[in-house]
Amino acid sequence: MVAHSLSIVLALGLLLLLSGPAFAAKYFEGYLPNGDFEELPKPTNLKKTVLVGKHALPKWEINGFVEFIAGGPQPGGMFFPVSHGVHAIRLGNEASISQTITVKPGALYALTFGASRTCAQDEVLRVSVPPQSGDLPLQTLYDINGDTYAWGFRAKTNIVTVTFHNPGVQEDPACGPLIDAVAIKELYPPMPTRDNLVKNPGFEEGPHRLVNTTNGVLLPPRQEDLTSPLPGWIIESLKAVKFIDAKHFNVPYGHAAVELVAGRESAIAQILRTVPNKEYNLTFTIGDAKNGCHGSMRVEAFAGKDTVAVPFESKGKGGFKSASLKFKAIAARTRITFFSTFYHTKINDFGSLCGPVLDEVRVLSIRF
Ligand SMILES: *[C@@H]1O[C@H](CO)[C@@H](O)[C@H](O)[C@H]1NC(C)=O
Ligand SMILES: *[C@@H]1O[C@H](CO)[C@@H](O)[C@H](O)[C@H]1NC(C)=O
Repeated sequence: MVAHSLSIVLALGLLLLLSGPAFAAKYFEGYLPNGDFEELPKPTNLKKTVLVGKHALPKWEINGFVEFIAGGPQPGGMFFPVSHGVHAIRLGNEASISQTITVKPGALYALTFGASRTCAQDEVLRVSVPPQSGDLPLQTLYDINGDTYAWGFRAKTNIVTVTFHNPGVQEDPACGPLIDAVAIKELYPPMPTRDNLVKNPGFEEGPHRLVNTTNGVLLPPRQEDLTSPLPGWIIESLKAVKFIDAKHFNVPYGHAAVELVAGRESAIAQILRTVPNKEYNLTFTIGDAKNGCHGSMRVEAFAGKDTVAVPFESKGKGGFKSASLKFKAIAARTRITFFSTFYHTKINDFGSLCGPVLDEVRVLSIRF
């Protein structure tokens, strides 16, 4: 049986090798066509800021009241944060923009986009790639310079339609979320290894980081592991977890890590295959991202029925330490979960949420 499946694996491997460049797996990454909204609409398709006509926005199809705007201070005293290029679009009441793209059936993708609310507190952005769809609450501003989000989907067909929709109805029909730039990345499916039961343990596989995104990428709440923009990981609770990169932050290991930016309201979890009654050792690293996040931090970790709370004193210098938790599996599946006990804001910017960094999560069985 084992030999048989091994030969199938070998045959498949050979097939992949032989199919060579013609079938070379190209992991696409970058902006969608006119994903930064810098291609200007024809003047005849623009009435002040309002786009007129289904095809007024190059490469996109629009529905309803959609505005083409430039970032910065606006007439009437509002400020639109646009950090990727100059232009962005704003979705009015029940308006949407969509684009049809070619993808690989069965593959996992993450969309990355700049999004922020403009006038109402309760603005929501609905992202969909049918049959999947997700609502992103934009109520919390994580960074005053504008937020970047990621959302994952699994392609069912080779042509899919990506839609951003404002499901809200405000008194002012123009009121609604701003979308700054839209990019896509195909993600590698993560696998546990012989040395570690945790998939994507160092958060190295994650969504595209937009050029000039110095703020990291928010992973919105309620992400399931099968379609998560952070492969293998579930984002629980009400608020986002931030994906941070070594280019703009201090991360303990490798190119990326996550920052627990919303206290007990945001948790990150993974479900592992375990053997009931067997003992395991969970190890992980916590620290600070050297991003002006100071103070007494604490990360709580859960595995099965066991838990540990690890304090970390952040001096904002990019320090880190490792911790461990011995646990006994009580079932064939064990959920490991992490969150920050406290809320933190940056020392020189009380409007921006921050928190402890988590990296390098490992689970190994304890052998005697
Ligand atoms: C990124 O920032 C650099 C320097 O400020 C600027 O020249 C460039 O145009 C920016 N790129 C984008 C895509 O906004
Ligand atoms: C778990 O792993 C850590 C790091 O390797 C080690 O220090 C600790 O002693 C281990 N705990 C157990 C119970 O094996």
